[in-house]
Amino acid sequence: MSFISRNFASSFKPVCNSLLHNARFYSTLDSSKLVIEKTTNPKPQIPQNELVFGKYFTDHMLEIEWDKETGWKSPKISPYHNLSLDPSTIVFHYAFELFEGMKAYKGAQGEIRTFRGDKNMVRMNKSAERIALPQFDGEELLKLIDQLLILDKKFIPQGKGYSLYIRPTMIGTSASLGVSVPDKALLYVICSPVGPYYSSGFKPVSLEATDYAVRAWPGGVGDKKLGANYAPCVLPQLKAAEKGFHQNLWLFGDEGYITEVGTMNAFFVLKDAKTGKKELVTAPLDGTILEGVTRDSILELARDRLSQDEWVISERKFTIHEIKQAAKEGCLVEAFGAGTAAVVSPIKNIGYKGEDINVPISLGNSGELTAQVAEWIRKIQYGEEEYKGWSRIAKV
Ligand code: COI
Repeated sequence: MSFISRNFASSFKPVCNSLLHNARFYSTLDSSKLVIEKTTNPKPQIPQNELVFGKYFTDHMLEIEWDKETGWKSPKISPYHNLSLDPSTIVFHYAFELFEGMKAYKGAQGEIRTFRGDKNMVRMNKSAERIALPQFDGEELLKLIDQLLILDKKFIPQGKGYSLYIRPTMIGTSASLGVSVPDKALLYVICSPVGPYYSSGFKPVSLEATDYAVRAWPGGVGDKKLGANYAPCVLPQLKAAEKGFHQNLWLFGDEGYITEVGTMNAFFVLKDAKTGKKELVTAPLDGTILEGVTRDSILELARDRLSQDEWVISERKFTIHEIKQAAKEGCLVEAFGAGTAAVVSPIKNIGYKGEDINVPISLGNSGELTAQVAEWIRKIQYGEEEYKGWSRIAKV
């Protein structure tokens, strides 16, 4: 136990706890030390209409190694390549892995924009802290990502719905089967050009409410973006797909709390039959819900832009039974999932215990608010509108 604690303390907070290291040799993440090795073998560009999510990658990648003794080494951008790791490397055995999802957009003047990357950096550090991987200065990583984006600019597709998906990742790289705090880590960033999630505008999805498995639980890690949270979610999605549903809806507890949809946060719009007032509701951040950047943006925009006379914006627990009842009474207005990949994804139907709960899609493919929030966010992401400094322009 004391062995675990000592090692844990020495690599948990490398910046604050630098006294535990030989402070003279411990380095924090420093973008000014970036070394760039450009590719001599540029890849051909994939035609925009052939893009498939996460399948094609740009010419370069960013890597920063870390070790317990010396801290963060010089960041390196080099041609996209395979990683070479010992088969005993701790990431393969005990899931020391976390990631983020961000996107870069090409604005009207050809400028490169990223959306609220500071939120991703905060979440990435929280994920790192939880699995005893090193933390880092998020602004330094954003500066490095800017340089990668500038170098691979030609891969950022232009046009509505097109972007470059950015995947910052951190893994523990100690080569040992011991279950302990990694003394080595690798932070890397790869980028993949992507097209609109739905090629012909919105396509509403049908969901199966999963009542035999849960995604996350109190005291667990459902609010962290760990790879280990994703693998166990694929089987319920597969089972839902076998019954003809597009995705699954995650419930929790005997009460049937609605938590998330597939890999996205879930939003519902309910109408109060007496007052006619509408409520936009999503599950609260109680430790089981991913702290989605899109989720946060929707809540902030809705609170800012929807009339308080007509709307209530709620982060509260709500159940599948409440939604079923609202649908029965004609008070379920619309529903959608929200995440980085699809931004918003309209919902048209929920299968629950063999019955269908029909969700209205008043505009044909989505509800009105679903279309509205998608457009609000799109305009900020592409720089058609500036809002609270949410869109960052990459500079050399
Ligand atoms: C997102 O849309 O936010 C995601 O995390 C999806 C990703 C796992 C592909």
